Amino acid sequence: MRLVLLGPPGVGKGTEAGLLSQRLNLDHISTGDMLRNEVKEKTPLGRQAEGVMSKGKLLPDALIMAMVRKRLSQGEANRGFILDGIPRTIVQAEELEDILREMDRPLDFVIDLVAREDVLISRLSGRRVCPKCQALYHIINMPSKREGLCDRCGGELYQRVDDQVETIRHRLKIYQDETSGLKDFYKKKGMLLTINAEGEVEETFVKIKSSLLPKYDCPSL
Ligand code: AP5
Repeated sequence: MRLVLLGPPGVGKGTEAGLLSQRLNLDHISTGDMLRNEVKEKTPLGRQAEGVMSKGKLLPDALIMAMVRKRLSQGEANRGFILDGIPRTIVQAEELEDILREMDRPLDFVIDLVAREDVLISRLSGRRVCPKCQALYHIINMPSKREGLCDRCGGELYQRVDDQVETIRHRLKIYQDETSGLKDFYKKKGMLLTINAEGEVEETFVKIKSSLLPKYDCPSL
């Protein structure tokens, strides 16, 4: 199965993509995680990305699509994938279509996760991330068992620089201006499945699963 998870910052794309990839054995491709890794490794791309990401702006389409093309051509994506954080503009969506057509692996569905803005702000401002294994936590909704430490690998949890309230508001505006138009793009193609993601993590996961079930004959669903 080949999916895109669409939705504003904080709606739970990374969280739900993590569950879907584990339970359906799909490759989870997150452009945000890839870029944060480049920043950590201090690569030329990472140095360019750092300032842009900390302000909550988008990186240039060409740069993102080159990174995604390379990632998709790696063997892991052959078993099926979930794209998280890509596409974010119509230009990216069109180029993604071209790349996947060349690979003869078109998208099956685009899952649009939706939630109210106050829910998004509260999720993002309480988010904590493990720098080693990228596990996601929330100080209230999903705290780690030992405060500040990752349950999976013991890594020291941190708060993303772009999770400050002012930057969050800017990211939400950019989502409205640049990304929300993708809903129509995929709706016209008959690929869009809209899911209310305000409930608990597992509840949203079950809704995603139920929306895919009638459309996709996959034994692990
Ligand atoms: P990226 O990392 O993709 O950030 P984002 O799209 O803003 O999304 P988030 O990761 O903030 O939120 P999410 O929806 O994944 O929510 P999560 O599951 O973490 O991108 C970062 C930056 O990179 C961009 O701003 C841009 O600069 C650059 N970039 C990336 N891709 C790009 C592209 N294609 N083009 C150009 N630039 C690009 O959940 C959030 C919190 O809520 C967590 O704490 C979680 O534990 C909690 N939570 C999740 N679900 C629930 C629930 N159901 N109930 C309660 N709490 C929940």
